[in-house]
Amino acid sequence: MSRSGLFLSFEGIDGSGKSTQARLLADRLRGAGREVVLTREPGGSAGAEEIRALVLQGDPDRWSAETELLLFTAARRDHLERTIRPALEAGKIVICDRFADSTRMYQGLSRGDLRGKVDALHDLMIGVEPDLTLLIDMDPAIGLARAKARNTAEERFEDFGQPLQERMRAGFLELAKEFAPRFHVIDGARSPEAVAESIWATVSARLP
Ligand code: ADP
Ligand code: TYD
Repeated sequence: MSRSGLFLSFEGIDGSGKSTQARLLADRLRGAGREVVLTREPGGSAGAEEIRALVLQGDPDRWSAETELLLFTAARRDHLERTIRPALEAGKIVICDRFADSTRMYQGLSRGDLRGKVDALHDLMIGVEPDLTLLIDMDPAIGLARAKARNTAEERFEDFGQPLQERMRAGFLELAKEFAPRFHVIDGARSPEAVAESIWATVSARLP
């Protein structure tokens, strides 16, 4: 894929502040005259948003981890074809609230070890990594309380409870080591403004 833009992703457990920080970063970049596409997963294109409702609503045991992996990958493929790739080819900055690292964690780790299948499917169908990934690290008890306070219908993963969030936090920190040059770990247990400053310091150093 020819890529003249910059591809940024936010990762972290539920309620860690990804959406808040993605929005603040998009505003700041736009203020600096950059063209930004702010998007999210699952979703970010019409088809992928339809899949979003299937995977985020309903009982935690609605899908097996394997079926979920296929659904998230289908959504990502559509998002990549219709939203991310065209924006990067047009030289824009893409900010994505979650991307493939979330699949490595939530489908790869949460219910048995499916990481091999996750990686194989990623190589086959996606094959793209962000240029920079901002991992917002956060105590799962605080994250889950924040996420639950939002009170939406999209709580399927939050309903797996705090033990899952604990595993996801540890897993994300491991992933940050595995993909060290791409990942930057940001302490999320501060005011939104302080977190945003750390993120800006990292991102502004990477701007073309
Ligand atoms: P995520 O996208 O990671 O789930 P959100 O950005 O939606 O997280 O934040 C979850 C909730 O916590 C929201 O109600 C948001 O307003 C609040 N929040 C976000 N960042 C902070 C922060 N640094 N301190 C306190 N509350 C925050
Ligand atoms: P999101 O809307 O970002 O939730 P939150 O704002 O609470 O962090 O994502 C919804 C859920 O989808 C989240 O619990 C993680 C899950 N998810 C996966 O399981 N696999 C994936 O590939 C992605 C992108 C998300």
